Amino acid sequence: MKVGVIGLGQMGSGLAASLLKAGHEVTVYNRTRARVEPLLAQGAQSADAIADACRGEAVFTMLSDDAAVQRVAFGDGGIIESLGAGSLHISSSTISVAMSGQLAAAHADRGQRFIAAPVLGRPDMAAIGRLFVFAAGEAGAIDAAKPLLDAIGQRTFVVSHEPQVANAVKLSCNFLIASVIESLGEAMAFIARNGVDRHDYLAMLTSTLFGAPIYTTYGKQIAGGTFSPPGFAAPLGLKDIRLLLQAADDLRVPLPLASLLRDRFLTLLANGGGEALDWSAIGRLAARDAGVDVVSENLL
Ligand SMILES: NC(=O)c1ccc[n+]([C@@H]2O[C@H](COP(=O)([O-])OP(=O)(O)OC[C@H]3O[C@@H](n4cnc5c(N)ncnc54)[C@H](OP(=O)(O)O)[C@@H]3O)[C@@H](O)[C@H]2O)c1
Repeated sequence: MKVGVIGLGQMGSGLAASLLKAGHEVTVYNRTRARVEPLLAQGAQSADAIADACRGEAVFTMLSDDAAVQRVAFGDGGIIESLGAGSLHISSSTISVAMSGQLAAAHADRGQRFIAAPVLGRPDMAAIGRLFVFAAGEAGAIDAAKPLLDAIGQRTFVVSHEPQVANAVKLSCNFLIASVIESLGEAMAFIARNGVDRHDYLAMLTSTLFGAPIYTTYGKQIAGGTFSPPGFAAPLGLKDIRLLLQAADDLRVPLPLASLLRDRFLTLLANGGGEALDWSAIGRLAARDAGVDVVSENLL
């Protein structure tokens, strides 16, 4: 298919590469031009403007947050203005439930099609087309997107005919991951205080009841204190917990644990953690609080 990709950060670059590998005709656009070059070497076409990435049957967006999507979709020369009638916007960014609803309404007004397809999986999985995709939207639009979703993911779960529901599902997953990071960090601070080596402890955990990738991946980072370079930067983690709390607030769903996690991210950012740190660095705060060890040099 002819498809555009807008947003070539850690996730978008991998996503575009997977589409190319699957044989799709890919046109890429990124605000910062330098990120386009590696994709051109892999066979992508370059778009000088957002509108140039919107001339195919579909366009993906893989952007940081609501503000980026607001600019790229609703701004002058943006996707809403540029996409042809009947063409499809696939929004894979982790954005608010409300923003996804606004996109759905604006595209419908223009006779364009829209699905939300946020993803689970880190940049390494994006690069090899092994993401998990939560897709939502009208059935015909989901069917049209299938060859593209198959190229970027190992499995697509269709969760609703209302696009924004996929964003709610995605936010709930990131909440669960952040909860594991925090609880694993607390458990490791405790066992370290008891004189147990964190790596030995992790090896035991992951070979018993805690064999899930979340424990393996993040456990290694927390045990080793290795949070740079980030696969998912700490400010993006804070963004997602905020988006979850906002959506839950609208529905009057109290999420006390999510409120605690928001404060953990604020603590991390207030102590020198930023773009350069992975969000799993909140998992080392418990050790710092317990005076267990010298934490990562990037943290106080
Ligand atoms: N990294 C992960 O592990 C992961 C996993 C699943 C989902 N996600 C979600 O995927 C999305 C992208 O994450 P990422 O890790 O790829 O982030 P990233 O590496 O920081 O890339 C962000 C992208 O958004 C663009 N952007 C930001 N603000 C913009 C603006 N105002 N106008 C136009 N473009 C703008 C950036 O362009 P520039 O290059 O010009 O800055 C870049 O292309 C986020 O919503 C994130 O929550 C990430």
